[in-house]
Amino acid sequence: MKSSRSHAEPFSTKSIALALALVFSIFSSAAAHADARGEQLYRNCTICHGPDGQGIALQLAPALTGLSEKYLVEQLKKFKSGMRGSHPDDVAGLRMLPMSQTLLTEEDMVAVSRYIISLGSSPIEATLEGGDPVKGQATYATCTACHGPDGKGNDLLNSPSLLNQHDWYHLTQLKNFKSGVRGANPQDIAGAQMRPMSMLLTDEQMMLDVIAYIQTLGD
Ligand code: HEC
Ligand code: HEC
Repeated sequence: MKSSRSHAEPFSTKSIALALALVFSIFSSAAAHADARGEQLYRNCTICHGPDGQGIALQLAPALTGLSEKYLVEQLKKFKSGMRGSHPDDVAGLRMLPMSQTLLTEEDMVAVSRYIISLGSSPIEATLEGGDPVKGQATYATCTACHGPDGKGNDLLNSPSLLNQHDWYHLTQLKNFKSGVRGANPQDIAGAQMRPMSMLLTDEQMMLDVIAYIQTLGD
């Protein structure tokens, strides 16, 4: 009796270990598959966003690596549906819109977004001049509710991180929200949250100031 019990125990431990190994290998091969798919899909993006995902100024293309998976997927959906990037005055958005058509399914959008995030985000040098970060800090108080005091954004509010991004891109976006080039589509619910905030920025100087402050945030 004693010997049969001691025989059965290692057997069942072994079978549990085998079952776990099997489950793990199914999961890890699915993850590896998604990684490979994301990497393959991202090849279409490198010409503008760069192989490192840090963006290319000449292409008007922003850094993507500091953004969350949820925000990236949402923006890809918006470009694909024309909710973003279809306004006739949206010079940069009109470049991005056809690229979003290369992502056929939501799974593809998720896979490419995960690959982008895996590239890792890092600080980006400022290019704009004339912004006063001290004045900008006072203005930024109104932005913290959604983008956070640390600028990291909040997925629950659909508001993106503002860290590790090109300052010129932020300036274009603030102008685009204000003029209705971005966020004015009646179906764009998250855009409609940001638009009135851009209206608080009465002139370009106020935009430069708040962007200069955002540039001081980061890890
Ligand atoms: C032909 C150049 C070009 C290519 C190729 C391209 N993009 Fe873009 N992308 C842009 C530009 C320009 C913008 C900025 C649009 C704007 O100013 O509103 C942009 C914006 C984005 C944004 C929004 C970022 C934000 O902060 O809101 C995402 C996400 C994005 N691109 C993902 C991709 C992915 C994924 C691919 C590959 C499938 C891709 N792009 C390929 C030019 C490109
Ligand atoms: C009520 C919430 C809210 C507040 C307050 C707010 N934002 Fe936003 N912001 C958003 C949302 C939501 C988006 C994304 C909109 C979309 O999906 O297109 C956004 C997008 C942006 C973007 C574009 C980022 C990108 O990667 O394309 C910038 C820049 C920005 N906000 C700056 C600001 C600044 C500066 C302030 C303060 C003056 C501010 N926001 C206040 C909600 C907010």
